[in-house]
Amino acid sequence: AQLQDLAAQKTGAAKDMAFAFDIDGVLVHGDRLIPEGKRVLEILNGDNELGIKIPHIFLTNGSGKIETKRCAQLSKILGSEISTQQFIQSHTPMSALAEYYQTVLVVGGENYQCREVAQTYGFKDIIVPNDIFAAQPTISPLKEFFTDEQRRTSNPRDFSKVKIDAILVFSDSRDYATDLQIIMDLLQSENGVLGTRAKDPVSQRIPIYFSQGDLLCPSEHPYPRMSQGTFRIALEAIYKQITGVELERVVYGKPELATYKYADEVLASWMDTIHGEEKLPKNIYMIGDNPQSDIIGGNMYGWNTCLVRTGVYQGEGNDDENPANFGVFKNVLEAVQTALKKEL
Ligand code: G3P
Ligand code: MG
Repeated sequence: AQLQDLAAQKTGAAKDMAFAFDIDGVLVHGDRLIPEGKRVLEILNGDNELGIKIPHIFLTNGSGKIETKRCAQLSKILGSEISTQQFIQSHTPMSALAEYYQTVLVVGGENYQCREVAQTYGFKDIIVPNDIFAAQPTISPLKEFFTDEQRRTSNPRDFSKVKIDAILVFSDSRDYATDLQIIMDLLQSENGVLGTRAKDPVSQRIPIYFSQGDLLCPSEHPYPRMSQGTFRIALEAIYKQITGVELERVVYGKPELATYKYADEVLASWMDTIHGEEKLPKNIYMIGDNPQSDIIGGNMYGWNTCLVRTGVYQGEGNDDENPANFGVFKNVLEAVQTALKKEL
């Protein structure tokens, strides 16, 4: 009977804890598996002493693909099914903007995949920079390449008759010169009509949103590469120099508060899916590799934070500026095992 009590107690504790995983640098490097990541998902999906599922969600600043495609890709790499219901990319919470803006300029990403992201989110009229370039090539004198494929998948039209309601930077720019130029044109236009100039740079300016703020991103290159944050900083500096006013903008993604609030909603509904009760677990563990996004955000939000050494962070002890409150671990498996030991 005592053993049964203990098992019931542990099961209760297992239902009152959850993990939020960063993806790049924790579970995978791009498309390459971090082997401990695969084992961790097996454990949390039921291969543990209690034989039950331990709730976990994925909270990534990654972007550029629709959720179903990215989940399918990750499920294959990690060898465990990842549901879109437990998955948040940097731009996922931006789907809420679809009800406010009719016509949007969507910037960033590969092969027009961000157009597909915006369609999935319910945006009605989606424009990408190549649509504008196809209609008016003189808009970007510094652009050197416009491939046949890009031309074929562009929708040129008379943009002097189009009012763009907002600019959404979903993913990394593939052409800084053209994207910065077109965004600058729009930010200085009268209420988002290309070819016009606002009389008042602030009241007639359309809003701009960024899906995340990371300055650097780990890659196959020996040193991390520039990410969406550097693009934003470049734009802010150019905008300030040219107009004399600060650019107001909204940034999503970790470590922004809105993203953690959104993660709570996703986690609560995922609890309902796997345990039949929509309630937030008491003990949430964020596992990340970037002190400046995963750890600072988790700390501010009252989560337990674990920093791993398989990605951006390579230091010896804890990070000086944003120390992980639950500790620093060699890899994700070590972090999860330590958390499970403490809670169960
Ligand atoms: O910095 C961009 C992105 O690749 C980071 O993804 O999963 O580490 O939040 P993640
Ligand atoms: Mg990461």
